[in-house]
Amino acid sequence: MIKIAPSILSADFAALGHDIARVEAGGADQLHVDVMDGRFVPNITIGPVVVAAIRKRTRLPLDVHLMIVEPERYISEFVAAGADMITIHAEACPHLQRTLAQIRELGARAGVALNPSTSPAVLEYVLDDLDLVLVMSVNPGFGGQAFIPTTHRKIREIRARLGDRSVDVSVDGGVKTDLAKSLADDGASTLVAGSAIFGAADPAAAVRAIRDAATGR
Ligand code: DX5
Ligand code: ZN
Repeated sequence: MIKIAPSILSADFAALGHDIARVEAGGADQLHVDVMDGRFVPNITIGPVVVAAIRKRTRLPLDVHLMIVEPERYISEFVAAGADMITIHAEACPHLQRTLAQIRELGARAGVALNPSTSPAVLEYVLDDLDLVLVMSVNPGFGGQAFIPTTHRKIREIRARLGDRSVDVSVDGGVKTDLAKSLADDGASTLVAGSAIFGAADPAAAVRAIRDAATGR
C-alpha cells in the first residue's frame, strides 16, 4: 500500500488548519513537514512551535524533514512537539548512526534523507538503524521544482540494499500524478507531494488522484 504525504510547504500558512483538514479528507496517510534553517538550505521555514500547533489539529502521523545543520541539537524538541518521524540529512550529519539512535531512543521513527547527488552507499552501515529513507528528487530548499530523473535508479538501488527490511522509501520533490506509478514500481512506499496537492484547486481530489495513479487505478 502506497502512502501519500502532502508537504505543507505549499499550503497556505495563514490557513494551515484548514488546508490540513482538506488533505485529511482526501485520505492523506501522513503530513510532511519541511524544516529549513537558511544554512543547510537557502530558505527558512518553521520550527517546533508550528509542529506543536499542527499536532493539535490532526491525528495524522507527522513526518518531519529536517533540512538543518546539526540536527542532533533539535531532535528532542521536535519529538516533544509531536513529530512521529524525524528525517535528517546524511550530508548534515557526520555522526549519522548516533543521531539515528538518538531519534529512536526518543520514541520516534528515524529517517535519512539523501540529496540528489548523494550515493546510497552512505546507508550501508546504518541499514539496521533506520525506519525510512527519504530520496530527494530535487535539491532541497523549495517547493515546485522539477523532478530529477536519476531518482528512479536511486530508489531501485536503495530497495536492493535494504533487502527484506521493512523500511519505508519515500520520494520528495517534483512528484506529480504522472510519476506516481513509475515511482511505486521502482519501490517507493511513500510519495511526498507539495505543489501537486496544495497547488491544486481541490487538494483532497489531488491526494486521491496521486494514490489512484500509484496503484494503477
Ligand atoms: C523540498 C521539500 C519538499 C517540497 C516538495 O526541499 O523537501 O518536501 O515541499 O514540494 P514539491 O512537491 O512542490 O516539489
Ligand atoms: Zn521535504
